[in-house]
Amino acid sequence: YNERYKTFRRQHVIGKMAAKDCDKVIKKRKIKNSETAKCKEVNTFVIASIKEVCEVCQTMGKPYHKNKTYIESVKTFQLVVCKLKSKGKRLPKCAYRGQECNQHIVLSCEKGLPVHFQRSF
Ligand code: C5P
Repeated sequence: YNERYKTFRRQHVIGKMAAKDCDKVIKKRKIKNSETAKCKEVNTFVIASIKEVCEVCQTMGKPYHKNKTYIESVKTFQLVVCKLKSKGKRLPKCAYRGQECNQHIVLSCEKGLPVHFQRSF
């Protein structure tokens, strides 16, 4: 598998978590802003199996209307969106507010595998 796919999986796909788990999961999965070495501002977790998320790239997605390089999911997914409470915080103290919702996800795919989480709606 390619490295971008592995990173996508680590950052965005989880079998089970609750909104209150953001801090713990983001720390455990070593999710950070790789460019600034600060805390990542937003990270969305898709509560699903990796198989279901990969299917968005294969049969369960369609071109995203605003930018056809992206694929949007046909169905909605259960999500936890983790947002940093205060911007500009340096590692390792990253405190997040989590929100649970059900939304369509917008991804980019390479060779039928998800490699980037763009947004949800
Ligand atoms: O939108 P932007 O390019 O700043 O997003 C950077 C990264 O933040 C994305 O690649 C993705 O990993 C994450 N993100 C997210 N959920 C969102 C928006 C961004 O996980 N709704």
